[in-house]
Amino acid sequence: MRRLSHKLKARGQRLGFVPTMGALHEGHLSLIRQAAREADRVVVSIFVNPLQFGPQEDLAHYPRDLARDLERLAGEPVDAAYLPGAEVLYPDGFAARVTVAGLEAVLEGAQRPGHFAGVCTVVLKLLHAVAPDTLWLGQKDAQQCVVLERLVRDLDLPVKVRRGATVRESDGLAMSSRNAYLSAEERAQAPVLHQALARLAAAARAGERDAAALRQLAVRHIAGAPLARLESLDIVDARTLAPLERVAGEVLALVACRFGGARLIDNVQFRILRREGER
Ligand code: PAJ
Repeated sequence: MRRLSHKLKARGQRLGFVPTMGALHEGHLSLIRQAAREADRVVVSIFVNPLQFGPQEDLAHYPRDLARDLERLAGEPVDAAYLPGAEVLYPDGFAARVTVAGLEAVLEGAQRPGHFAGVCTVVLKLLHAVAPDTLWLGQKDAQQCVVLERLVRDLDLPVKVRRGATVRESDGLAMSSRNAYLSAEERAQAPVLHQALARLAAAARAGERDAAALRQLAVRHIAGAPLARLESLDIVDARTLAPLERVAGEVLALVACRFGGARLIDNVQFRILRREGER
């Protein structure tokens, strides 16, 4: 991979990179298409990274279908698929971890200890191998974007990070490989997450600034779905991930919720202009 990247860059070609764990869907493909519009070559990696799964999580069941993924990629503007084996990325005795202190221990990181260290470690290794000009990430995983942007900034990695918008099903459910775990009933109720976040954002735009009231509004909507088991709903500053009491500036509302065996996440990000006299 490194040799190929070196060769392409020696020819002056700009490289876009989309890291994935496979089970490719329209969300991944939209990142690929955006990358292709801004680069001469696009590299996609597929690697189900064991380091970012907790011991109780779905690593063993995570959907894997390499043949189907490669078929999908064949119809897209992709120049190379990088498919490292676990033994290549993590040879015997591998012990290093890269962390972004603070950012990785909150929100998703509090519920999934070690998750973001696993993400940072693998993405740093993938970036070393691919050496892209641009790294493409999905807003679907908003905290992952914030953590990786900080990793790139703090370690002076020579790569530009770009975010792609969340791609949704027609009923609003954010596309995710984990949607495959949902039963028909759970699938029918899962759009409450997006609906709740949309209501929260609309209420904020309409003038409600109290984060607790906004949160309550969303929580109540999700409670209307009998199969939803809400894990968390947070309203934070989109840049620092610090919790907000009153919404202002760039605001991020994130939800994590279980439906049966599936743990789904979603978020909405919006800007509230500070009124005169407001802090
Ligand atoms: P994975 O879940 O496969 O996602 C790969 C990329 O696709 C991530 O940047 C993710 O945010 C983006 N993505 C997923 N669903 C999306 C959607 N509905 N709309 C837009 N983008 C979406 O995220 C990972 O893999 C891993 O943590 C990884 C970064 C590859 C490191 O292992």
